[in-house]
Amino acid sequence: MVALAAPLPAEYGDADQNGSEPVIKTTGLRMRYGPVDVLRGVNLCVYRGEVVALLGPNGAGKTTTIEILEGFRKRSAGEVRVLGTDPEQGDEGWRARLGIVLQSWRDHGKWRIGELLAHLGRYYASYSTPEHTRPYNTDELISLVGLTKQANDKIAKLSGGQRRRLDVAIGLVGRPEILFLDEPTVGFDPQARQDFHGVLRRLSDRGETTILLTTHDLNEAEKLSSRILILAGGRVVADGSPVTLARQVSSRSEIRFSKDGLHYVHSAEDATSYVRALLGQYGRGIHNLEVRRASLEDVYTKIVQEFESRNVKRTPGRHARPNGRRRHAKPVTKVTA
Ligand SMILES: Nc1ncnc2c1ncn2[C@@H]1O[C@H](COP(=O)(O)OP(=O)(O)O)[C@@H](O)[C@H]1O
Ligand SMILES: [Mg+2]
Repeated sequence: MVALAAPLPAEYGDADQNGSEPVIKTTGLRMRYGPVDVLRGVNLCVYRGEVVALLGPNGAGKTTTIEILEGFRKRSAGEVRVLGTDPEQGDEGWRARLGIVLQSWRDHGKWRIGELLAHLGRYYASYSTPEHTRPYNTDELISLVGLTKQANDKIAKLSGGQRRRLDVAIGLVGRPEILFLDEPTVGFDPQARQDFHGVLRRLSDRGETTILLTTHDLNEAEKLSSRILILAGGRVVADGSPVTLARQVSSRSEIRFSKDGLHYVHSAEDATSYVRALLGQYGRGIHNLEVRRASLEDVYTKIVQEFESRNVKRTPGRHARPNGRRRHAKPVTKVTA
């Protein structure tokens, strides 16, 4: 008998989970800068506890969208609700329920981490309710972002990665119900990126904070988010979990293995049947077996390229890929199985 790990949870649909109200909802959101329509009717919903990545080519309007949701930018048209409130009408009580991770908070080099967070936290105390106490307990927050050892250090002493974790802590200090992060890992080295992903995972495991982030790093989006939204041409052109989107662009999987010292790649509609037949035929002669579905990068490239080729006359010369990397076509070797 093969020992099986616990099954993965069934995927939920992209619509309403358990009939709950979305914490973020936009309907027909439009934004025009001068003569240019950047958002042309964005419809999106985000539900409590989700981690949603907003992806799209440069200039697609991701930052614009996030700023409208945060109440920092006035939209041209459409309906927007964040925690049930129109951000343009949001008061301080509403604002206290949101967390925003800014690119970097400066000016506080001489402050110690613990002191700064306790100080900022005091602002949120008056927005505390019995159901949702604020602010975060300082020690707990510092531990969440992995800065316990540096709690008494001055901010100026922090490394770049520690500094970004402090930026997240500052965004979280009021125990926000929604946390917005706009390209939070730009310029990170791999270690800082890993640490940062750890912070977001610990946060999402707690399930109390809904996270909306934008990123250019598709691996990051795939790792962290339960749902992906792709913004292109001013609209949401794809919405679903990484697995759902992968199925949409390709139902085929890639199967790689080696046999007699040679490497093979095969593409199959039904990977399980193929692998069963392969092992039935060659058994122990098969090594390094790997089955791979379309990655988020494949999905993203396909969706955005398809979209842009349909709109090529309207938006000439736009670059589809967010990071300039190219996936090389792989030869497919046939194996009789
Ligand atoms: N304040 C502004 N005034 C005029 N145009 C702007 C302004 N902010 C952004 N834009 C333009 O709107 C488009 C979308 O920008 P942005 O929301 O920053 O996209 P993204 O974050 O997806 O890269 C870009 O073409 C940008 O130049
Ligand atoms: Mg941006």
